[in-house]
Amino acid sequence: MSADWKATFTATFGAPASAVSARIWAEVYGDEYPAELDTYSFVTRTDLHRVAAEARLAPGGRLADIGCGRGGPGLWVAARTYATLTGVDIAETALASARRRAEAMDVEATEFRIGSFTDTELDDAAFEAVMSVDALLFAPDKPRACAEFARILVPGGRLLVTTWDFDGQPPNRPPQVDDHRPLLEAAGFDVLSYEVTPGWRERQQRTMELSLERVEELAAESGEDPSKLRASLEQVLRNQELMTRRVLMIASRR
Ligand SMILES: C[S@@+](CC[C@H](N)C(=O)[O-])C[C@H]1O[C@@H](n2cnc3c(N)ncnc32)[C@H](O)[C@@H]1O
Repeated sequence: MSADWKATFTATFGAPASAVSARIWAEVYGDEYPAELDTYSFVTRTDLHRVAAEARLAPGGRLADIGCGRGGPGLWVAARTYATLTGVDIAETALASARRRAEAMDVEATEFRIGSFTDTELDDAAFEAVMSVDALLFAPDKPRACAEFARILVPGGRLLVTTWDFDGQPPNRPPQVDDHRPLLEAAGFDVLSYEVTPGWRERQQRTMELSLERVEELAAESGEDPSKLRASLEQVLRNQELMTRRVLMIASRR
């Protein structure tokens, strides 16, 4: 049976951001951790700078962030490029948090709305750039998600996605792929760059090891059962072994 990701992420983002996890990310990622953005991903400052530069947005350009979570990465890129931002996620709790963040960051032209990778409910050719950070692995149908990216972009528009290639199928996860480039090309993109993000495996491994070491503290913070939390962290570690690379894909809509 496949997991109910909407329920899982709605619960995750309904709780306050974990201070224990934030300390672990800061310890592992150092200056690369964008602490002020309350990210729920392995995104680094280097990734964010690459996305902002490669989005090629003019001031007032239209940016969408799919699987936006609490909104931090998209808001950072929008603020840096003077773009308008539409964030899409399946979890209303994440969107509520993103709206508060937009106000706090004083980024005005933003909208955060419910939608999914396969059905964003956004208009055709409505964006000059679409980004997505560490979320595409949850899309149940990746070819359809790529077609949806193409549909909402203008011709020549840019796609910027961080995600993982796998050499096996992790249990209880949507189907994964070993290379996203054929999917992007079939959906109408030219792949401009397919970059492996520096140090990804060591950092993710260390993050999960520290999380396991501090499982009691994490469980006390969230109110979860420590043994269940330990089991799910161990599963994430096993899933990580099936990842062959974390990539930043940069593509242009034909
Ligand atoms: C690991 S989090 C990353 C969140 C955010 N991009 C960040 O960097 O903080 C994955 C996100 O994908 C969202 N998500 C999961 N399945 C989705 C789907 N089918 N369509 C859209 N978003 C989805 C989750 O709700 C969650 O916000």
